Amino acid sequence: MFKVNALGAQDEVRFQKILSSLMMDQRVKEMKLYIQHGVITTYEHCEQVARICYIINKYFGEKADMESLVRTAFLHDFYLYDWHEKKLKNKIHGFTHPGIAAKNAKKYFNITEKEKRAIESHMWPLTLHKIPTSREAWILCMADKYVASIETAMMRK
Ligand SMILES: [Fe+2]
Ligand SMILES: [Fe+2]
Repeated sequence: MFKVNALGAQDEVRFQKILSSLMMDQRVKEMKLYIQHGVITTYEHCEQVARICYIINKYFGEKADMESLVRTAFLHDFYLYDWHEKKLKNKIHGFTHPGIAAKNAKKYFNITEKEKRAIESHMWPLTLHKIPTSREAWILCMADKYVASIETAMMRK
């Protein structure tokens, strides 16, 4: 798995601790079965986005709630299906998966309304009227684009 801007040892321990219960959950582990971009699984993608969120928040003085941010980022693509299958719903995946992931995260992990809104708005501006409205949501939205761009670029031959 690629790891850009890997965390220092202490931060890695803190990062893993924040996510430890989610990482042990069978439903979360199911994200290992789906490919996000190229050879990267959805699980790896979510972990990487969470890591970049951690780095951004730390760099800017932790003005966002670190635990909430990292957990939300880890669940931001918790939609649990293979979007590469040629089904109708997968053609509009970009627009619909934030809502599905947010619903799953709410159902299984009882996330807060603020966290739910952050997941729903992570694809903005694609989802025009789901605009990030919190610091956590903005960081997630940016980190996801950064990681997705790298993953997509690495797919090219
Ligand atoms: Fe997404
Ligand atoms: Fe994503």
